[in-house]
Amino acid sequence: MPHLVEIAPSILAADFASLGEGIRAVERGGATLLHVDVMDGHFVPNISIGVPVVASLRKATRLPLDVHLMIENPEQYIPMFAEAGADMISVHQEATPHLDRALAMIREHGCQPGAVINPATPVSMLSEVLGGVDHVLVMSVNPGFGGQKFIRGTLEKIRQLKLTRERYNLSFRIEVDGGVGPENVADLVRAGAEILVAGTSIFHTADPAEAVREMKQMAGGALAQRA
Ligand code: DX5
Ligand code: ZN
Repeated sequence: MPHLVEIAPSILAADFASLGEGIRAVERGGATLLHVDVMDGHFVPNISIGVPVVASLRKATRLPLDVHLMIENPEQYIPMFAEAGADMISVHQEATPHLDRALAMIREHGCQPGAVINPATPVSMLSEVLGGVDHVLVMSVNPGFGGQKFIRGTLEKIRQLKLTRERYNLSFRIEVDGGVGPENVADLVRAGAEILVAGTSIFHTADPAEAVREMKQMAGGALAQRA
């Protein structure tokens, strides 16, 4: 039984002055998750949003909040993001020497833990934690900015993760983030991705609701082929 594919709009590409409207548009389009990028200016060379925004989002939507931490010392902030209303929290393998501890903390705080790998990090770096995560997030750009070009080598990493999941009978979902849009949705779903994060290709269009609808339809078609 294949997993369903979900579209997770990344609000990083939305207009922050009218974030509520942007969220309602993607809800209308059938988004089932909202991806929230947290950047600290240290782990990545950019600063985005933090705990108060997550708390406001929690009041503005019923969609689960998928919080992607691109910060140093993530353990220190996990309790705050959980308290603010995150449903899923993802930490980078590269951001902590204590990935196992960080993932366990996320679960202890009532959220779904996810591990993230940068484009330069092989899937094998996660081998010891795959049994304890709800999702694995494969970066398909170097994190820090929206609007970058999709790195094709990511497809192979997604295939590897799917094979590993089958071989060891694991249940994590596979998420991909960066440069995702109509031109690669089908390839990504066929490779094994089940959560597609997309910022620019949704919010920088004239009709974000329609952009979500189209990607969902493409993903559904590709999933039927994969099954
Ligand atoms: C990049 C972020 C992404 C970003 C994706 O560091 O993690 O979530 O918003 O943006 P697009 O879809 O524009 O590549
Ligand atoms: Zn992200």
